[in-house]
Amino acid sequence: MKKIQISPSILSADFSQLGNEIKRLENGGADMIHVDVMDGHFVPNLTIGPPVIKALKKNSSIPFDVHLMISPVHKYIESYANAGADIITIHPEATDDLLSSINKIKKLKKKVGISLNPETKVEVIEEFLDQIDLILIMSVNPGFGGQKFMPEVLDKVKKLDKIRKNFKLHFDIEIDGGINFENSKLAIKSGVNILVSGTTIFKNNNGDIKKNIDLLRSI
Ligand code: DX5
Ligand code: ZN
Repeated sequence: MKKIQISPSILSADFSQLGNEIKRLENGGADMIHVDVMDGHFVPNLTIGPPVIKALKKNSSIPFDVHLMISPVHKYIESYANAGADIITIHPEATDDLLSSINKIKKLKKKVGISLNPETKVEVIEEFLDQIDLILIMSVNPGFGGQKFMPEVLDKVKKLDKIRKNFKLHFDIEIDGGINFENSKLAIKSGVNILVSGTTIFKNNNGDIKKNIDLLRSI
């Protein structure tokens, strides 16, 4: 079994203190930083872009797990790579040619992540599985933090975990949206090895980040 990793989403952080918030996450034991990039078009919300990522990256020593909810995504991949993204995750619906977007991320020597919305089927990416480093299963419809976890997406996690074992593949399975101390255990049991969490990490136990990260990691 792969080691369980925690990727806190800075969407729930104090945006006036982002640099310090990232330090708090690092000190609390985060394995990477999940950055939600939204364009007000692919999803109905707007967040941050490359200049902010570049500034934050200077302040951090752990990988940046950049979740691009923007369309068309292809022409922006390079800017995010240059800004300091270590993992670049895109949605298949946001590009005309998924293979060429995968190849572009690889050429920039970044890890390739593909995200599946709750209604997107595993079949959409099946032929590319040997070229993908990470699959991000959305357990809410992307756009906002603090939404309710959709348990039905765990069927896709189980399916991908089975494929990973049967074909001896190495991709990570990450889950994003509405993760709490209970469903985290179900997700891990189903095959998830990276948990994204915003609300639970920043708001639970009076914002005790270390405690919340440890609790999410425990099985
Ligand atoms: C939703 C984002 C998530 C979200 C997670 O579109 O991709 O990363 O911020 O936040 P919580 O844990 O609050 O659901
Ligand atoms: Zn995300």
